[in-house]
Amino acid sequence: MAKWVIANWKMHFSLTEAESAARQIADFTAGSPVKIGIAPPFPFLKTVRDAVPARVMVGAQNLFWEDKGAFTGEVSGPMLRSLGVDFVIIGHSERRKHFGETDEMVNKKIRAALEVGLIPLVCIGETLEEREAGRASEVVKRQIEKGLAGVAGRILLAYEPVWSIGTGVNATPAQAGEMHALIKGILGDVPVLYGGSVSPENAGELARTKGVDGFLVGGASLLPEKFSRIVSEVEKSEVQK
Ligand code: PGA
Repeated sequence: MAKWVIANWKMHFSLTEAESAARQIADFTAGSPVKIGIAPPFPFLKTVRDAVPARVMVGAQNLFWEDKGAFTGEVSGPMLRSLGVDFVIIGHSERRKHFGETDEMVNKKIRAALEVGLIPLVCIGETLEEREAGRASEVVKRQIEKGLAGVAGRILLAYEPVWSIGTGVNATPAQAGEMHALIKGILGDVPVLYGGSVSPENAGELARTKGVDGFLVGGASLLPEKFSRIVSEVEKSEVQK
């Protein structure tokens, strides 16, 4: 299965910084067999799309499920498509936490993305409280059942334990392996990326873990040199497998 490394820039960078980081990521990863993606903030999408070659996928971090209308502040799938956007992150834990996104909303957004030919990159994962209560599997199963009802098989998934995002505490290969196996057990052989404090230091071991098909990278993706070292680790892991 193809391997993916996708940058989630969240709400960072100015326009010029975004353009320069995108160019560097494209340069550093030229010739790599790994599928590279960059998800900048909405206002930088067009600039980033124009700055990188077609092999680098460009994605949005969110979309709304209606095509158009009186929805102040929202951005639709057709709008993203018209910018040349390839994929869209849906259901990131920060959207679930700060903007009240539910599994039902995630499902509507996935359908809207598929409708216009955007690849949905759907994020799932449990919080620390849920893991400590022994409910990690149950939570992820619920997110899959409700969020992916009727749409599984046409998406990319990212398992991102909430407790590992931006904390410097990554899931261990055993923890990631267990959850990726659970997800693939339910959905079949969908690509499942791991996300949560991925760094050049931990990427190799995680990339060699069965069921890990690449990474969704937050903090480390803001530094193109670090990001490209993560890509190299994924390449090396393929050779070693
Ligand atoms: P992180 O973020 O790499 O900074 O932990 C990952 C994500 O939120 O997608």
